[in-house]
Amino acid sequence: RQDFILDTDPGLDDAVAILFALGASERLNLLALTTVAGNVPLSLTTRNARVICDWAERYDVPVFAGCDRPLVRPLVTAEEVHGKTGLDGLEIHDPQTPQQGGHAVDFIIDTLRAAKPASVTLGPLGPLTNIALALVKAPDISTAIKEIVLMGGTYFEAGNITPAAEFNIYVDPHAAAIVLGSGVPITMMPLDVTHKACITGKRIDKLRSLPNRAGKRVADILTSYARFDTQKFGLEDGPLHDPCVIAYLLEPGLFGGRRVNVQVETMSPLTLGATVVDWWGTTTGPANVNWITEIDAEGFFALLTRTLAPLP
Ligand code: BDR
Ligand code: CA
Repeated sequence: RQDFILDTDPGLDDAVAILFALGASERLNLLALTTVAGNVPLSLTTRNARVICDWAERYDVPVFAGCDRPLVRPLVTAEEVHGKTGLDGLEIHDPQTPQQGGHAVDFIIDTLRAAKPASVTLGPLGPLTNIALALVKAPDISTAIKEIVLMGGTYFEAGNITPAAEFNIYVDPHAAAIVLGSGVPITMMPLDVTHKACITGKRIDKLRSLPNRAGKRVADILTSYARFDTQKFGLEDGPLHDPCVIAYLLEPGLFGGRRVNVQVETMSPLTLGATVVDWWGTTTGPANVNWITEIDAEGFFALLTRTLAPLP
């Protein structure tokens, strides 16, 4: 089983990714959910992470709250996409899964310091604040990280929060620059690929026909989630972002990309948070990222659907 930590800001698509990871617990050893401010403020992303663990009856998953704002910039949230609660359209109860004492960044540092070299995978699904802070506070932890597989960035596709930037990178571009410059192996799932993971009616129907609650819940979440992109952006089918990270951990062969140099714009007001990808190797910058652009979308949704089956 692969040890991993999911760093997240739930968030509708984060919720699907978390359930996906919990459904895969025979292969993925989820050490903790660490939360960060992003789609909604930290108190809500943390509450939501606990609610999602309850849904899966996984009250044992440690949930740690992390940073409540980006390193430098004021927090930008995405209630327009995920609703005021962060889990728009879903019933939210007082969670039973406890919040752990201590800060997510310290949990990440302590866990990695106790781990074998190159043994723990990090899966950031929101702004990279916690991961960057951990790497700055304790640079020695980088040797314990097997890989960072993150959702964020855009290059061939347009931005979704500004013309130039994807939401997760835009919210904390300074953190993203730290992570991309850390020398740790990184795979990125940008909009270039997630916009090919389309939430079609047929795919929702297959999830809904699972004989458990999780399938129906994920079908409801995706129905609600796709609405934003179809209504606001006029896309035919909404894209599914964060679960691509989990799918990559389980079946990397579903994806295709290229090892390239990627840098983040942290200064220009016009292009803040833009991920500049040296696709054709025009510079001597090191290939710091495996930049994913291709997906077998049918295989991806099939994997998601069958992985959710063991959940309640
Ligand atoms: C990313 O932004 C968030 O709103 C989603 O949860 C996803 O992580 C997509 O740009
Ligand atoms: Ca997210």
